[in-house]
Order: sequence, then structure tokens, then C-alpha cells
Amino acid sequence: MRIDVLSLFPEALEPFFEASIIGRARQSGIARIHCTDIRGFAGNRHQKVDDRPFGGGPGMVMMCSPVFDAVANVESEDPVPATRILLTPQGERLTQRVARELACLPRLLIICGHYEGFDERIRLGLAPREISIGDYVLSGGEAAAMVLVDAVVRLLPGAVGDEESIEDESFSRGLLEYPQYTRPRTFRGMEVPEVLISGDHARIEEWRRSESARRTRERRPDLLEEKGQTQDTD
Ligand code: ADE
Repeated sequence: MRIDVLSLFPEALEPFFEASIIGRARQSGIARIHCTDIRGFAGNRHQKVDDRPFGGGPGMVMMCSPVFDAVANVESEDPVPATRILLTPQGERLTQRVARELACLPRLLIICGHYEGFDERIRLGLAPREISIGDYVLSGGEAAAMVLVDAVVRLLPGAVGDEESIEDESFSRGLLEYPQYTRPRTFRGMEVPEVLISGDHARIEEWRRSESARRTRERRPDLLEEKGQTQDTD
């Protein structure tokens, strides 16, 4: 998969994309990630990419031209058509389902905003899919891009060593994950549940299933409702 990230602060993104699972996926060619500085497309001496909003009001608005030019330039670098994504608190919420959907695509082009927002014609003209990582406002889309790229890249085949760990983890079956333990068996008086050291795989499986259901019921009953609804329509 190729991922282009357009941002005013690519230097904030690069170190994150070099570390850990994403860094390895990049090195092995599973994910080809390119960061582009939108300011390089300002097209004026002062490198200006934002301006005051028509109609007045606080803050600055990201201008159309640098964003349109950056998108056109980056898209022309590769014939694979890109799915355009605009990161904004007004977008559809990023969920594991959305991450799975995006992980099936050949190319993503992610646009990070800054300042008060985008000129509306960026939405109208580029028709991107709009995604939010949650109901709060960040000072820019960079942190959101890191979240999105992380959630997607780890789903690419070969990115995570043990594919089963992806199937088991929270949300992948519409439930939260069961509790995990590792050595030692006793830590500060807290014991590992006996079943996990019993060697009885059927019992372990059953315990995990029931813990997973209990956790979800206690912490995220909304997920159980959603799961019921999707199963009804399957
Ligand atoms: N930009 C600012 N806030 C954001 C959010 N919550 N999600 C995605 N992009 C954003």
C-alpha cells in the first residue's frame, strides 16, 4: 500500500513513521509512506498557506490553492488512484471497521489541516472521505494522521508478526479483548488465573470468551448493541 500524507508539519510525522511496526512495514515495502509539505506549494514569496476568513471571525483558514496543487502533484507521482482522506473533527468516526476498509485499498492520500479549518472548496473540489479520530479538537491533523496510519498499517498482511493477535484483539470481533497475563505467576500477591496455566485449551478458550463478553458488557455495552444489530442484518 502507498500512503501519502500532506501536512504543514511533515517533520512531526516522520519520526513516528520510522518507529516500531510502521517503520518495519516501511522497510519491508509493505507500506510505502511519503510525507509532503503543503507549504512547498504555497506559490508565493511568503510561503503563505492560510488567510483570514471571509465574513470575519477568529483564526485563519487553510487556502485552496496550496492544497489542490499538493494533491495534484503527489497524485501524479504514481498511477495508482488514491483514496483522498481529509482529517477533520467533522468527519465520520474512525473505528476498527473503517481501518479495515481502508487497509484493503491500494493507496491513501491523507490531508492534515491546521488553523481554524479548511476553505470549504477543498471539500467540494477534492471530494475526500472525511474522517475524525474522536469528538475533540486537535490543533492540527498530524496526530490524527499518526493514529489513522497506525491503525491501518498494522492490519496489512505481514505487518504484525503474529496474525492471530490481530484477530483476537479488541473490536476485531465487535468485543473488547480478554485480560492477558505473562510471567511471573505471582506479582505483589496477585495471581494469574488458574485456568491460564491449566494447559486445557478448551477451558482457556471458554474463559477468554466469557471474560471478553463480561468486559464488553461492563465497559462498552454500546458495542454489544451494535454487534446485535449487524448480526441481525447479516
Ligand atoms: N483535526 C482536528 N481535530 C481532529 C480530529 N478530532 N480528528 C481528525 N482530525 C482532526
